[in-house]
Amino acid sequence: MKGQRVLRLGVLGSGRGSNLGAIVRAIEEGRLPATLAVVLSDQPEAPILALGQKSGARTEAIVPSAPRGRLAAATEQQFVDILREEKVDLVVLAGFMRIVGPAFLAAYPRRIINVHPSLLPKHRGSNAAAQALAAGDRVTGCTVHYVDEGVDTGEIIAQREVPVMPGDTAETLQARIQTAEHELLPAVIATFAARE
Ligand code: GRF
Repeated sequence: MKGQRVLRLGVLGSGRGSNLGAIVRAIEEGRLPATLAVVLSDQPEAPILALGQKSGARTEAIVPSAPRGRLAAATEQQFVDILREEKVDLVVLAGFMRIVGPAFLAAYPRRIINVHPSLLPKHRGSNAAAQALAAGDRVTGCTVHYVDEGVDTGEIIAQREVPVMPGDTAETLQARIQTAEHELLPAVIATFAARE
């Protein structure tokens, strides 16, 4: 990968971490010139932390006082401090169930991306696959976008379509969307590396 700098990634998640798994596979297979520097979570028991640890990254749980929603300024600063300590170039939100506030956004301008399981601007927020089914969509998909102060409102970077099949449940549809996410997210991160 001549001419490409190895991007240092900070991944934030609250859950399973299958997208982190896809990033790690892409790095291991040489498709993504990046290093997984740190994995951070607001949930100490989240499998994404164990996966990060297994992959050799620094892992930390920073548990906010409020159960969900926004992060307090001091908590947000803890996230930013660790990302800076680890010299992170790109912050990837992969199932991080918190709203990122102004101080965090200012620390990483156009350097925080999120993956969302719908074709934004349709079906923002949680349960996007169920929202697509309820709307009677024949096609849905996934989006990687820049993070701004809203919920799933930032500028779209890339999308991939996924068909809705007869008999789909929210679970079967979400699983099909995730397969697409696992291709799209590492590919988008690779474009950041190529730009360095
Ligand atoms: C993904 O579907 C992503 O689009 C959404 O949260 C889910 C995280 O899944 N923001 P995982 O933890 O990467 O498996």
